[in-house]
Amino acid sequence: MLKNKNIVVTGAGSGIGQATSLLAASYGANVLCVDLTDGADTTAAQIVQAGGSALAHRANVAEESEVEGYIGACINAYGSIDGIYANAGVSGGGKSVTELTVEDWQRTLGVNTVGVFLAVKHSLKHFLPQGHGAILCTASVAGLRANAGGVDYSASKAGVVSIVQTTAYQTYGSGVRINAICPGLIETGMTKPTFDRARARGSEDKIGQINPMKRFGQPSEIGEMACFLLSDRASYVNGQAVPVDGGLSASHPWVYPRT
Ligand SMILES: NC(=O)c1ccc[n+]([C@@H]2O[C@H](COP(=O)([O-])OP(=O)(O)OC[C@H]3O[C@@H](n4cnc5c(N)ncnc54)[C@H](O)[C@@H]3O)[C@@H](O)[C@H]2O)c1
Repeated sequence: MLKNKNIVVTGAGSGIGQATSLLAASYGANVLCVDLTDGADTTAAQIVQAGGSALAHRANVAEESEVEGYIGACINAYGSIDGIYANAGVSGGGKSVTELTVEDWQRTLGVNTVGVFLAVKHSLKHFLPQGHGAILCTASVAGLRANAGGVDYSASKAGVVSIVQTTAYQTYGSGVRINAICPGLIETGMTKPTFDRARARGSEDKIGQINPMKRFGQPSEIGEMACFLLSDRASYVNGQAVPVDGGLSASHPWVYPRT
């Protein structure tokens, strides 16, 4: 599905980014695994060990020079760039609206929204002249409706949805596609505290019960959608924020009917 595609994945050191990197390589992509941490090295090493093609690159996605750096690294290593998955993100910590500080907002939006903007801006410098390119971003169901994160986190993800919709029109007729995935609850490094708390209480079986699949998701279930959207198989999908959430966002508030 991604044979010989040169792809950057940010947040590749853990969770959704790691699973997507592994899957993309198994579908034939050359993957530049970008992360702030040495998780990038671990993911790239796992891919190479499995016979795939990957390189690790450490960068902070919120810093413009480092974004230019990771895009340059992809082109230096593989000769071109065909796709980018701007996935790195932070939870913001879940403070209430009255506790949040301006610094909290700047930190959360700096990674989740400005980081995505910078990935879009600098990948387009290559995608527009070459007349093709797939941009994918991780938003969240928190960017669609309330109750899936703090105010800063939710606003940062609503911003990602808006970047995708607006950029799709600003790149009118260019051959570039841009989309987002809105994951529901997925077991990753980011959600570990939630899972740890539930397991400590013995209520693990309650996690994810509010969606009609009646369970939480796995990182690879986002990764499969990500690989599809990065591939030419998604050639007519553009400007969309696609929920991958077990059906959570399909409903109005709902109570399971008691019998
Ligand atoms: N897990 C969920 O339930 C869920 C739901 C909706 C959306 N998301 C989104 O999915 C994306 C991936 O998160 P995850 O759940 O896999 O979490 P995770 O914590 O397992 O992975 C996030 C990765 O991003 C990296 N990262 C964080 N800040 C960075 C920065 N400034 N520069 C470079 N790398 C940075 C981290 O080091 C980590 O490896 C995030 O954007 C998150 O908001 C997650």
